[in-house]
Amino acid sequence: MAVMKMVMLVFALASFILKAILVQGWTAGHATFYGGSDATGTMGGACGYGNMYSAGYGTNTAALSSALFNNGAVCGACYQIRCDDKKVPQWCLLGKFIIITATNFCPPNNALPNDNGGWCNLPLQHFDMAEPAFLQIAKYKAGIVPVVYRRVPCKRTGGIRFTINGRDYFELVLISNVGGRGDITAAWIKGSNIEWQQMDRNWGANWQSNSYLNGQSLSFRVMSSNGRNLTMLNVVPSNWQFGQTFASSLNFK
Ligand SMILES: *[C@@H]1O[C@H](CO)[C@@H](O)[C@H](O)[C@H]1NC(C)=O
Repeated sequence: MAVMKMVMLVFALASFILKAILVQGWTAGHATFYGGSDATGTMGGACGYGNMYSAGYGTNTAALSSALFNNGAVCGACYQIRCDDKKVPQWCLLGKFIIITATNFCPPNNALPNDNGGWCNLPLQHFDMAEPAFLQIAKYKAGIVPVVYRRVPCKRTGGIRFTINGRDYFELVLISNVGGRGDITAAWIKGSNIEWQQMDRNWGANWQSNSYLNGQSLSFRVMSSNGRNLTMLNVVPSNWQFGQTFASSLNFK
C-alpha cells in the first residue's frame, strides 16, 4: 500500500513538473544576425514597416523563417529569446534575454542544407536578428546559436500608428507600433463621409482600401489575434496627404 502511494506521488509530481515546463512554453530554434552594427540593413523588410524607428520598433527586430512568418500574419508580434546556454555556454551571454519584434521575412535557401546556410528553410524556426539585438544575447563570433523562444506581449510607447501611402482610390495603410499581441488580423476604415469598411491585407502590415478618402477625416478599427478590437476615431484630420503618419492615442495593452 505504501509503495502504491509512493508511486502515485511520484507520478503526480512528474506530471506537475512536466506541466510547469509546458506552461512556460519555450520552443527551441536558432538565431543569426544581419544588417550591420548600426542595423541599417534591417530597414524596410517584408512587413513594410520602412524605418523601424518611425514604426516604433527600433533595432530589437528580426526576420523570421517561413515556419514562423506565416505570410506576414505575425508582423509586429513579439518574441522573448534566450541563447541556449545548456547547448553552447561558450557562445551565450549568460542570463541574458531579449524581446524582438517580427519585422521581416527570412527567405528559404533551398540550394543550401538546413544545417549549413539554409537556416531559414522549412521547417526550421529561425530568427535572423538585427545585429545589435543578437549581440545582447550571444557573442559576435558565434555567428549562429541555438536559442529558446516564446511569444510574449508587446509593450509599446504611445498609440497605434497609421501611415497612409498609395493614391486616390487605393490607400495602403501601414499599421505599426501595435501593443499587446502586436499583430493585426483584421482592420476597418471609416471616412467622415462614408461608413465603416473592412480593409484587406495587401502585404505585411499594409492594409488596403479602394474608397475615395481624400479630404475626409479618418477613423480606424483593428482586431488583434486574441480577438480584441480597438476603435480609434478621427485619428487622421481631413487635410491629410499621402505619405503622412498619424498616431492614435490608444493601444492594446
Ligand atoms: C471584434 O470584432 C469582430 C468583428 O466585428 C467580432 O467578431 C469580435 O467578436 C470582436 N471581439 C470582441 C472581443 O468583442
